[in-house]
Amino acid sequence: MVKLTIDGREMEFAEGTSLFDACREARGEALPHFCYHPDLPIAGVCRLCQVEIEGMPKLTIAFNTTVRDGMVVHTRSERVRKAARQILEMHLINHPVDCPICDQAGECGLQDQYMEYGLYESSVEKDEKVHKAKAQVIGPHVILDKERCVLCSRCVRFCDHVTGTSELGIFNRGDRAEIGIAPGKDLNNPYSLNTVDICPVGALTSRDFRFKKRVWLLKGTPSVCPGCATGCNVRIDHEADRIYRLKPLYNAEVNGRWMCDRGRLEYRQVHAESRLTEPLVADGDERHAVEWPELWERLASLDRGGLAVASPGQTLEELVLFARLGAVLCGEGKVCGGPTEAGRGEGDDLLISGDRTPNRRSLAWLGLEEPAGADLVARAGGTVIVYGGDPVAEAPGFAEAAAHGTLVYLGTHRNATCEAARIVVPMSAWAEKDGIFANKAGRLQAVRRAVARPGEAREDWRFLADWLGRVTDEPQPAGLPELRRLVSETVPDVAGVDLNALPATGAVPVPAGSGGEA
Ligand code: SF4
Ligand code: SF4
Ligand code: FES
Repeated sequence: MVKLTIDGREMEFAEGTSLFDACREARGEALPHFCYHPDLPIAGVCRLCQVEIEGMPKLTIAFNTTVRDGMVVHTRSERVRKAARQILEMHLINHPVDCPICDQAGECGLQDQYMEYGLYESSVEKDEKVHKAKAQVIGPHVILDKERCVLCSRCVRFCDHVTGTSELGIFNRGDRAEIGIAPGKDLNNPYSLNTVDICPVGALTSRDFRFKKRVWLLKGTPSVCPGCATGCNVRIDHEADRIYRLKPLYNAEVNGRWMCDRGRLEYRQVHAESRLTEPLVADGDERHAVEWPELWERLASLDRGGLAVASPGQTLEELVLFARLGAVLCGEGKVCGGPTEAGRGEGDDLLISGDRTPNRRSLAWLGLEEPAGADLVARAGGTVIVYGGDPVAEAPGFAEAAAHGTLVYLGTHRNATCEAARIVVPMSAWAEKDGIFANKAGRLQAVRRAVARPGEAREDWRFLADWLGRVTDEPQPAGLPELRRLVSETVPDVAGVDLNALPATGAVPVPAGSGGEA
């Protein structure tokens, strides 16, 4: 261990600890910084994290200095503050200071530092500033304002070292130096929106989020991306039951600090016009909305026997209830997953999984096999209850096979299965409910309700428990905690895991016996 003094506090750190991390612990907050990022190679270009070390003639950059025994460090001395002020002043010379129309306002490193150091006005007139390109579209998702850039090079290092696509660079020198896109390239790698996250200022902003909402109005709900089997941890930023963006949440075991662009835009589905908002039934060729009592009557008159098809897009708790319901209504052994070909795509070595569903592992835990499309079609007949997914689109011939009986669809969106169904029940999207997904490694992660359900859409587990209560004498769980206790008692792969105590962010380790990385 190494003993040193930071801002008058004597502290001990393990050998090799960076002075940046030691100062964070001593101060209770990070040193000012632009170029430092824990997951990117060192750059040392902004010099904002300088500290004073007694006995050293010059100020020292903290993040590439390791702690030494006997060091006496000052992070808030007048020398340090003067140096920081000079650096900030230099940035302000040509910065447009257009915070009132900048999406980054409220979470901007430059704005924060100026507030801290009291430098509210630039000492250079607007007309004398070096002007650079503004609002330049540099890719499908990102827009660049060169005047706001502080040349920290984080975005350049991200594209060089994380995606390896090298679309961005710093060109020219002196006050003409500017961030830019490499000739002939677009910032169109599948992770491009992470550059917006790591840009400490409003130079890189999201085309999707642009001018939609002031960030201080947003509430954040920790959850999990439903876009693939990786299960990146995310924060759902929302206000007044509307989601405005997803941001990655740090989880060293799952996604680090990144997420893919496709997953980041998954939230749009929640508010899509194709959402189902009321129960529908078909009379002859006509389909119309009904009140709940009539829907229950229709469900009660369904013939027993048939097939129940579950989607890997549903939560563990929901799948447990649906498997039970399917066994009661259609028969033991008459419950399965959707066509095995569904929800497959290209994966990569970074985060994106070739399995584009969030909870296929739970289907396997419940013994719900996923037959090939042709096999699924051969099984369809009688009452066919589809819960999520779109087997009509994914398995040619499924609609025709199901038309011999009654097709019931429990789902969130109008899709081909919904169109073919005689009875449609509107359910909740992932951001409208609490539940658990098991990712490809079997990690149990909680999705959390961030926004209200639209119209008459039902909370899935309550609807399923209600239906089960009408067709069996079995007592049904009164709340989600009780259901979760039931799940851990009945699903051997999660036995012994307290499903009611999953952390708000981060995942519980792979339960014993559930296998390793899929
Ligand atoms: S665009 Fe942003 S992340 Fe890139 S160098 Fe400029 S300030 Fe840094
Ligand atoms: S890698 Fe998968 S889980 Fe992660 S953000 Fe993308 S789609 Fe979502
Ligand atoms: S954050 Fe320390 S030099 Fe940039």
